[in-house]
Amino acid sequence: MLIILLAAPSAFAAGDPEAGRQINAQCQGCHGIVDFKAAFPKVYSVPKIGGQSYDYIVVALKAYRDGDRTNETMHAIASNLSDQDINDLAAYYSPAE
Ligand code: HEC
Repeated sequence: MLIILLAAPSAFAAGDPEAGRQINAQCQGCHGIVDFKAAFPKVYSVPKIGGQSYDYIVVALKAYRDGDRTNETMHAIASNLSDQDINDLAAYYSPAE
């Protein structure tokens, strides 16, 4: 029992790449294509996030969600993500350790 209590939080903190892969359905339209440029409402480049570090993705998504980084598109998307979703996405995108 003690082992379960100790192990559970770190398992959550690490994120679940499989859960992240499912959430990624919302992201790949913009981020899934290398050098993709979205054409609406104007042409803009979408940064590649595959292979970014785990911490970088967590920090970036929380910054968009909390308004510390201002981008309307990503703010709208990140607002719907829980901390767990963010950890899962970061686990999915970052290179396997
Ligand atoms: C409608 C298009 C679109 C969708 C959908 C989208 N993004 Fe983004 N994302 C962008 C754009 C554009 C930027 C660059 C914003 C900026 O300049 O700050 C960005 C930036 C980011 C960044 C920061 C990248 C960097 O290099 O700093 C992360 C991380 C990110 N998105 C993750 C996600 C995740 C995870 C999802 C799905 C839950 C998602 N995005 C869905 C368009 C999108």
